[in-house]
Amino acid sequence: MTVQRIPIIIDTDPGIDDAVAIGVALHHEELEVKLISTVAGNVDVDKTTNNALKLVQFFDKFTPVARGASKPLCTEYEDSSRIHGESGMDGYEFPEAKAAIHQEHAVNAIRQLLMNSEEKVTLVPIGPLTNIALLLSLYPECYFRIERIVLMGGSANGGNHTQTAEYNIFADPEAAKIVFSSGLDVTMVGLDVTSKATLTPDNVIAIRDQNETGKMMYSLFQHYRGGSLKTGLKMHDLCAIAYLVKPELFTTKKCFVDVETAGAYTRGTTIVDQKNRYQQPPNTTVCLDIDVEAFRMWAVKCLAAAR
Ligand code: RIB
Ligand code: CA
Repeated sequence: MTVQRIPIIIDTDPGIDDAVAIGVALHHEELEVKLISTVAGNVDVDKTTNNALKLVQFFDKFTPVARGASKPLCTEYEDSSRIHGESGMDGYEFPEAKAAIHQEHAVNAIRQLLMNSEEKVTLVPIGPLTNIALLLSLYPECYFRIERIVLMGGSANGGNHTQTAEYNIFADPEAAKIVFSSGLDVTMVGLDVTSKATLTPDNVIAIRDQNETGKMMYSLFQHYRGGSLKTGLKMHDLCAIAYLVKPELFTTKKCFVDVETAGAYTRGTTIVDQKNRYQQPPNTTVCLDIDVEAFRMWAVKCLAAAR
């Protein structure tokens, strides 16, 4: 029986948890990764682009990679290499990437793909939303070619970059505001949920021992500061991929979501109006919980399908 594959574009800032999400997506039978677009985030855009090329090469795929925004819409770029290491994927010596990047800027590459695609495409941002905001602002004709946006970012309760703001949204709050207010079908897989989605030490050993991909990821995990090998490694970005193919793992609620862009202490915070206090029409499907054990089993199984 042929499986109907979901066409997706992954917009990413690899990033060790991005690498896991990309690895699973590139091997999942229900997904067709049409393009990987990169953005400045965990590390600068040259590094995130180089990392994406290295991952595609490692997995023996031919997925195009397009280089995107080098800074947020309204502020200067701030490095975040403390979480993922200087290169953004410290811990494993990938061979130099041989493939050339897409000749177009990521925003133009996404537009070209959307306008030439016979079917609508799902956007899966797992880094700051700069490229997506630029696409929606420069090319409104793309709206009708986008199936939905399933993003890792924001939080219904507590932040990681500040007390209240999650990194991907904090990195470019103005971009995030454009995405959440776009009127498109947006799903937010937020930090309060993704922080529960950890790989246990036993999961990590099982992944390490299954194949070359597992060995590579185990090496990266030694340098990943999203949780720890002892307490569990937070698979933030993998949750966005999980939502696409196993939405039943998640508890969700349609809510009005907006982004604070001005607060001295709260800039980058996602306001998730679960009680409809602002009397605004809901604009986002917000993930509020996850079946952690089922997620772990799914993640280990998916990574077994890689090389
Ligand atoms: O807050 C978690 C997010 O920030 C993840 O996408 C991680 O890769 C970092 O970019
Ligand atoms: Ca990321």
